[in-house]
Amino acid sequence: MQTYLEQNKERFLNELLELLRIPSVSADPKFKDDVRRTAELVREKLTAAGLDSAELCETAGHPIVYAEKIIDASLPTVLVYGHYDVQPADPYELWNTPPFEPTIRNERIYARGACDDKGQFYMHVKALEAMLATDNLPCNVKVMIEGEEEVGSDHLGAFVAENREKLKADVILISDTSIIANDVPSIETGLRGLSYVEVEVVGPNRDLHSGVYGGGVENPLNVLCRMIASLHDEQGRITIPGFYDKIEDLSAEERAELAKAPFDEEEYKRDLDLNAVAGEAGYSTPERTSIRPTLDVNGIWGGYTGEGAKTVLPSKAQAKISMRLVPNQDPDEITELFTKHFTAIAPPTVKVKVTPHHGGQPYVTPTDSIEFEAARRAFREAWGKEAIPTRGGGSIPIVALFERELGIKTILMGFGLDSDALHSPNESYGLFNFYKGIETIPYFYKHYAELKAQAVNQ
Ligand code: BES
Ligand code: MN
Ligand code: MN
Repeated sequence: MQTYLEQNKERFLNELLELLRIPSVSADPKFKDDVRRTAELVREKLTAAGLDSAELCETAGHPIVYAEKIIDASLPTVLVYGHYDVQPADPYELWNTPPFEPTIRNERIYARGACDDKGQFYMHVKALEAMLATDNLPCNVKVMIEGEEEVGSDHLGAFVAENREKLKADVILISDTSIIANDVPSIETGLRGLSYVEVEVVGPNRDLHSGVYGGGVENPLNVLCRMIASLHDEQGRITIPGFYDKIEDLSAEERAELAKAPFDEEEYKRDLDLNAVAGEAGYSTPERTSIRPTLDVNGIWGGYTGEGAKTVLPSKAQAKISMRLVPNQDPDEITELFTKHFTAIAPPTVKVKVTPHHGGQPYVTPTDSIEFEAARRAFREAWGKEAIPTRGGGSIPIVALFERELGIKTILMGFGLDSDALHSPNESYGLFNFYKGIETIPYFYKHYAELKAQAVNQ
């Protein structure tokens, strides 16, 4: 196996670069054909890797790529999930090299999707190829790579519900998260949920001269800013009534356990050019970004934002607001609480509209399972180190849905770094991470098959 990986290294990388050259931006209809071309290429690569019946499954949106290798129905089955779609690359002018012309610099691959998630799901394709080529695949495997993760996986839910039998498996394996550092491997044990809304505050029926009308007519942008400012208190807590009601606080022991993961606040501030960190009182930065919920304005607009100064009192103000959620917070419920509160705090001088976007449930994976133990052993064997369990701050909404629809738990065996600039200009993925991931994945299969067989024989 090691020899196979070593001998095919260059080709693995070149194939990933080929994948990174297609701009599979799911959010922008302009790239619809590119998204499909990417799905086709993924299908070809799965076939080339030795998987059977690789196909494109059509949805009302972008297609899902599916393939499998069933070697023995009595063996356990691993379902690999990933996404071949990427975030928009804007703003293009901030990229040092073009986002869809992958470039290798300082031992890193620079391209949109390099880490999130093309570089990471492709490690699975290559690990499976290596296992199949060297006769080392000890389980059945099903692979599902979707094209709408970055836009909320709107059509995957229906696909999963309609294909329960096809997707039947014992564990789901995903590489779409981060490790702490290349010398500090870790396994994420949780993801935050998401509620995402767009708000609109409307004042007068048209933009007005801010001299002629200013002072006598409500300015919706002023109002929106006041309303948004009131959504946090002095302690950094969210003021929406009921927002925290269902959250179960972690025990002191659980918090102490999580605090064992190394974190250097000075380094964190340096990296982001911050004078100080901020957030909810009583919690550390790692806690604020993982086990606590948030409310953030992602964008706000209205009035005049062009060159120079235009004196205008805008008719309308808008904002996009995201809330990251933690276990027991339900996205629909939170969206409703937000909508009620936001409408209630609006002054009678304006009209308010709240439009929900996609959401997702939070997820926590148990660490006392055979599956998690297999992941630990895989890291131990490939990295010569213990992987530290951590709670992640990002969201992969489909993970909770897999558990609900299929009753299957997920192992988040990601190999990225938070500093890989996911969703930002100059996204990159370390060659070390790409190759180390390909090396680690087969150990997961080996240990998982062994642990499962032991459990059956007991
Ligand atoms: N891979 C990320 C999520 C992630 C990144 C989890 C790093 C943990 C560590 C995923 O592609 C993503 O970006 N998800 C979106 C949610 C989606 C509904 C747009 C997110 O978290 O914003
Ligand atoms: Mn991702
Ligand atoms: Mn993403």
